[in-house]
Amino acid sequence: MTSVTRKRAGKSKDIIKKDGKTFFEFTDRTTAFDGIKKDEFPHKGEVCCRLSTYWFEIMEREGIPTHFRAFVPPNIMEVEYLEIIPIEVIWRNFVAGSMLKRYELGENPKTGIEPRLGARIPDGTIEFTTKFEEKDRLIDEQEIIDSGWLTHQELDYIRGCTRRINEIMSRHLLEKGIILADFKIEFGKDAEGDILLADEVGTPDGCRFWDQNSYKQGVIESLDKDVYRYEKGDLSDVYLRIYRRICE
Ligand code: TMP
Repeated sequence: MTSVTRKRAGKSKDIIKKDGKTFFEFTDRTTAFDGIKKDEFPHKGEVCCRLSTYWFEIMEREGIPTHFRAFVPPNIMEVEYLEIIPIEVIWRNFVAGSMLKRYELGENPKTGIEPRLGARIPDGTIEFTTKFEEKDRLIDEQEIIDSGWLTHQELDYIRGCTRRINEIMSRHLLEKGIILADFKIEFGKDAEGDILLADEVGTPDGCRFWDQNSYKQGVIESLDKDVYRYEKGDLSDVYLRIYRRICE
């Protein structure tokens, strides 16, 4: 059989198609702020691949269908090929990042919340952004429906699924003294039109993890990509540390 390999580069992952199978290669490439900052950090790809594997297996056991098929050590994952839904789904338990920025710009992203880094959002909140535009842009549910990206029913499913993913990850992380401040996930559709959790999940690239002891003392200690975004520490050190705390 002839083996045809095709490779396509994303910001931090390469997508490889080989012999009818699809693989994600998690690289050490790191970007932030829609690609304005760019660097490479040793171990990053491997940590994100291993952590995604860890969480995808938990999600499958919890009955959440995902595109995960197999882990190919150290930094490759076989996935089911999906048609990606062109939105990013963000869940927030605490105020941080672009939500804080919106408060600072005088907007009011959610009423009844203290506009301060680290303020808890009772019952959490969900947001959606575009995925394939040059800059991620916040969109509302009506625009998602009007664009024909999802039906009402599919959007309800994604909302419920995201809430459950938050509950599952938050519970596991709190047992390890880690607060899940927020996270981003993506979904895709398989050949039957079923919606599956896609991309990566539970990595320091796509989540904000805060040390719970520090938080109790009024200090936000980031164990995620914020150390790179805001130059608060060495990404490789922090990623290896969070990997060990979650998986070992
Ligand atoms: P934000 O506060 O910058 O909107 O980010 C919310 C969460 O989503 C945070 O955990 C980081 C993650 N995220 C991504 O994974 N990819 C992105 O492109 C962005 C903007 C955020």
